[in-house]
Amino acid sequence: MTGERGIGKSSLAHLARFIGKEPQQRLGTECRFATAYYTLDKGDRISDCCQGVIEKINTEVRQSLTRKFFQKLREMDVSLKLSLPFVGAAELGSKRSGRDNVDPEKMQRQFVRVIEALWDDLSEQGFNSVLLIMDELNKIHDKENLGAFFKKISEELVSDECRNVMIFAVGLPWLEGKIADDDASAVRAFQHVTLGAMLEDEREEIISKALAGCAVTIDAQAQQELSNWSGGFPYFLQQMCFDSFEADTDAHIDIEDVYSGVWKSMKQFERMFFGKVVREVEGKNYQKILESLAQTDEPEGMPQAELQRASGVKGVGQYLPKLKKDGIITSPKDRHYKLVSQAFALYIQIQGRLGRWRKDAETQAAAARDTQKAE
Ligand SMILES: Nc1ncnc2c1ncn2[C@@H]1O[C@H](COP(=O)(O)OP(=O)(O)O)[C@@H](O)[C@H]1O
Ligand SMILES: [Mg+2]
Repeated sequence: MTGERGIGKSSLAHLARFIGKEPQQRLGTECRFATAYYTLDKGDRISDCCQGVIEKINTEVRQSLTRKFFQKLREMDVSLKLSLPFVGAAELGSKRSGRDNVDPEKMQRQFVRVIEALWDDLSEQGFNSVLLIMDELNKIHDKENLGAFFKKISEELVSDECRNVMIFAVGLPWLEGKIADDDASAVRAFQHVTLGAMLEDEREEIISKALAGCAVTIDAQAQQELSNWSGGFPYFLQQMCFDSFEADTDAHIDIEDVYSGVWKSMKQFERMFFGKVVREVEGKNYQKILESLAQTDEPEGMPQAELQRASGVKGVGQYLPKLKKDGIITSPKDRHYKLVSQAFALYIQIQGRLGRWRKDAETQAAAARDTQKAE
């Protein structure tokens, strides 16, 4: 599953795990999967990922495992470090646990062997499947060949007739391309899901459901703005709704409440996601360039000439290398540019609109003062 930062991937993956773990009466599901949820750290190697997954699943199911499993493990020459509950087994592999000198091929083979042994044991105890979730796979070390890894382990599992293992790979949109570039046939091992923004109906449903439980109402226009501005990003919607609700004082959320609420949300987004970017981008020309780029949603970005026209910044080319170096814009195609994420584009758009709203409010206040004086 791939999708933009903040679109809800991890939340959905956690839900998948929750559903998989045990039968849910309310949801009417009957799965009983042994699950592992491993989130990669920046620069993780594939061996770290294997190690992490094994540790996670071990934590979850070790109480259910039988002696037979550990017997089997002991017979393998395992260099994965596991903390096991049985005496003696705890020593397993620890002598050779210096990860750096583990041959990666061997590591991957052993990873498959351990998973297979786990499955052999768990299948006899009423488990239906093994679900291995790897989140933030985009953080994998540059040099690692993820495509080959997934292809290899999925083929080995299948050829050993171990078909009840499901790998759930989660990451940013470019991850799919990376896996395919590494090994085109690795793509076949997965059913790819792109998690997109919430639909308008869903956004509205969230707002009306949240308000249904209390005596506060909302203007249609205010609701529309919240839905638009969130761009369907769950976190944006949540925060903006929260702040608009807080800004309201008369049990009716109107557009003014939304503006002042969203003003606060922006501070929060800055703290959480965009602080560094916002601090680094100083100067009017940079701002103008970002505002123009925020208007495009072409996957390959905006041509440089068009950017120059739209932003009105002369010699726009001199500003772009710094923005690119700072990781604020990307260049998907030669002389084409876009902002690094859709969430950031939304942020810039909202910032522009709020700026105009503030200005209008100030002009109106000044006009009101003038009339008062004249009277
Ligand atoms: N369906 C949803 N409804 C409401 N809020 C959501 C939903 N999905 C995610 N969120 C919220 O959005 C934020 C980002 O979600 P997360 O799953 O961390 O995104 P990602 O992993 O894609 O970066 C979290 O604060 C989460 O609580
Ligand atoms: Mg996430």
